[in-house]
Amino acid sequence: HADGAACPVSDRARAFDPFTGAYQIDPAAALAWSRAEEPVFYSPETGYWVVSCYADVKAVFRDPLLFSPCNVLEKITPFPDEAMAVLASYGYAMNRTLVNEDEPAHTERRRVLMAHFLPANIEAHRDRVRVLTREKVDAFIAKGRADLVEEMLWEIPLTVALHFLGVPESDMARLREFSMAHTVNTWGRPSREDQIALAHEVGRFWQFAGEVLNRMRAEPHGQGWMHEAIRQNALHPDIVTDSYLHSMMMAIIVAAHETTAHAAANAIKLLLTDGAGWRAICEDAALIPNAVEECLRYAGSVVAWRRQLTSPATVGGTDLPAGAKLLIVMASANHDERQFQNADSFDIYRDNATDHLTFGYGAHQCMGKNLARLELRIILEELSRRLPHLRLAEQEFTYLPNTSFRGPDHLWVEWDVAANPAEGAE
Ligand code: HEM
Repeated sequence: HADGAACPVSDRARAFDPFTGAYQIDPAAALAWSRAEEPVFYSPETGYWVVSCYADVKAVFRDPLLFSPCNVLEKITPFPDEAMAVLASYGYAMNRTLVNEDEPAHTERRRVLMAHFLPANIEAHRDRVRVLTREKVDAFIAKGRADLVEEMLWEIPLTVALHFLGVPESDMARLREFSMAHTVNTWGRPSREDQIALAHEVGRFWQFAGEVLNRMRAEPHGQGWMHEAIRQNALHPDIVTDSYLHSMMMAIIVAAHETTAHAAANAIKLLLTDGAGWRAICEDAALIPNAVEECLRYAGSVVAWRRQLTSPATVGGTDLPAGAKLLIVMASANHDERQFQNADSFDIYRDNATDHLTFGYGAHQCMGKNLARLELRIILEELSRRLPHLRLAEQEFTYLPNTSFRGPDHLWVEWDVAANPAEGAE
């Protein structure tokens, strides 16, 4: 059965719940038992087959024909009719983008939309990211205490993303709210009551995306990736379709900003907890690029992704039927001892840190990975240079409950203002 209903389920598989508790706190640790004993298991709580080992997760990513990405943006918790009616009242019609498009349409579309992601175009954002980061640090450096999420980490990636996409800057706080609604709508387990409120918010986000698109269509020479997509839509309406444009406008705002904001927060939290890694990058900024990869491996911001089988297949020794839905947990794969020696130790010098699967792998691998890397490196360069005496404040970390996007809601840090390095010091 595609839904695994007839399969024997172990107690631990039955207890697996990616919406609360251990998985929210540390998804890799929560699946250590699975990596050791039951690398592929059916989870009755979600209706998904969970895949936890490196080789299996990579094999699934490697074959988008057998393992279709069609379910990547499906609501993991189905909405009741009432909430679906609310969505329909906004004309909501989220459809295929790139990330959930099947072959051959996906590769044709990706090819005509690739130019903007080439290295020279990414490099063009370097100075802007630097200036933005410096402005944010300037605003709090004399305070001695800050919530980095609130005071810099979500806004930098959102500003950079809008500029990269060519989307006019609008109410940033509202876009952040929209993005969180989209995340819970797609990967969360909202209560029935919350689903109604969420449906309104997601519906408004959908309409907002449509309005932005219309405004952008009126500027035929606009700069940015979405402007490029609009021009490709005019040239190849069968490859870059109208439905794609509207769906992508909504999905990309989230994909380009929440992922990167969470990655930065996870990285800083991890480096400051570790201490040694933080001190090392403060002394030698050349260590930052590999430290970023190790942070993405150890505590990535996209922790699980989805696929659906188009025919029966064996994954990790388990026979799965056509139609089976997979939750492939990259956070767990990234802690697999068979790929990473001492996988649970954080080591910014690790020589295969870039093997992590946080950006996915293969045909759909993240197109924005180098923009994200650029942002993460600059954020760490600026913070380690200007606030080397930064420390984590006493706090309880909380996470937006969902299967896939992970980063702390807040990240309180402290430092002794009297010990701030002199301004202008390099
Ligand atoms: C796809 C992660 C930042 C644009 C993906 C996928 C993952 C991912 C897991 C699916 C990969 C697969 O199926 O193999 C991340 C992480 C980021 C990040 C962890 C930050 C640390 C960005 C940024 C942008 C972006 C900044 C855009 C500016 C995309 C696009 C795709 C994608 C367009 C779809 C590619 C395709 O299906 O062909 N990303 N992403 N991402 N990402 Fe990212």
